[in-house]
Amino acid sequence: MQPSHVTIIMDGNGRWATARGLSRSEGHAAGASSVRECCRAAIKAGVKYLSLYTFSQENWKRPEGEVDTIMSLLASNMVSTMPEFEQNKVRFKVVGDMDRLSPELRKQIAEAEEHTAANDALTLILMFSYSGKWDIEQAAERYAKAYAAAGGPPSEPFERYLATADIPDPDLLIRTGGEQRISNYMLWQCAYTEFYFTDKLWPDFREDDFAAALEDFKGRDRRFGKVN
Ligand code: IPE
Ligand code: IPE
Ligand code: MG
Repeated sequence: MQPSHVTIIMDGNGRWATARGLSRSEGHAAGASSVRECCRAAIKAGVKYLSLYTFSQENWKRPEGEVDTIMSLLASNMVSTMPEFEQNKVRFKVVGDMDRLSPELRKQIAEAEEHTAANDALTLILMFSYSGKWDIEQAAERYAKAYAAAGGPPSEPFERYLATADIPDPDLLIRTGGEQRISNYMLWQCAYTEFYFTDKLWPDFREDDFAAALEDFKGRDRRFGKVN
C-alpha cells in the first residue's frame, strides 16, 4: 500500500554545511532543493499529503542570525516555488504558531495558501514554528472553551482542535540526519505512524531516497493493535 500522508523531519542541514566548510545558513539554503525533489517524488507516487518539519518551537532558541535566515528562506522559497506549485497542482499550507511570525511573513503565507487552495495533486504542509506539545496544549485550551460553551462535551472530537485538524494522521515518518528521535514533532498524530530513519543528511536526500522509503513502507505490517 502507498502511504497517503508522508511526513519528514528534515534534519542535517548544519552538519552538511559544516562538512563543506560552509555556514549553517548555507546548509538551510541547500535543503530547499531536497524539498522540491520530494514534492516531485510524492506526486509521482500518488502521495496526497507531504508534511515537512521545517522549524520547531525549540528552534527559536537558535542564534538570531540563523533564525533570520530560516525566516527569509521561507519567504523567498514561497515566491520562487509558486510557479512550480501552480504547474504541478500543489496546494500549500503552513501549520504552527503563526503568532510568533512577523506580520509580513504571515501575510505572505496567507496569500500563498489562498492562491493554491484549489490545487489537488498534493497538499504540501510546512510545519513551521510547530511543536507537538504546543499543538496539544492549544487544542486543549480551545476544547475547554467549547466544552464550557456547550455545557458538556462538544460535538467535534478532541483531534479536530489540533492544528492539523484537516490533515489525516501521517502513515510514514521519515527522519534524515541519523538521529532516531521525535524532537517534539506530531506527538498525537504519530500514534500509529511507521518510522523510517536514514543517515543521509537532508540536503543529500533525493527523489530515489524518497522512493526507497516508500518501498520500505510497503513491507510494513500495520496492525493498529488488532490481530491479523
Ligand atoms: C534541520 O537541520 C533544519 C532545522 C532544524 C531548522 P539542522 O539545522 O538541525 O542540522 P544539524 O542537525 O545541526 O546538522
Ligand atoms: C528537528 O531537528 C526539527 C526540524 C527538523 C525542524 P532538530 O535538529 O531541531 O532536533 P534535535 O535538536 O536534534 O532533536
Ligand atoms: Mg538538527
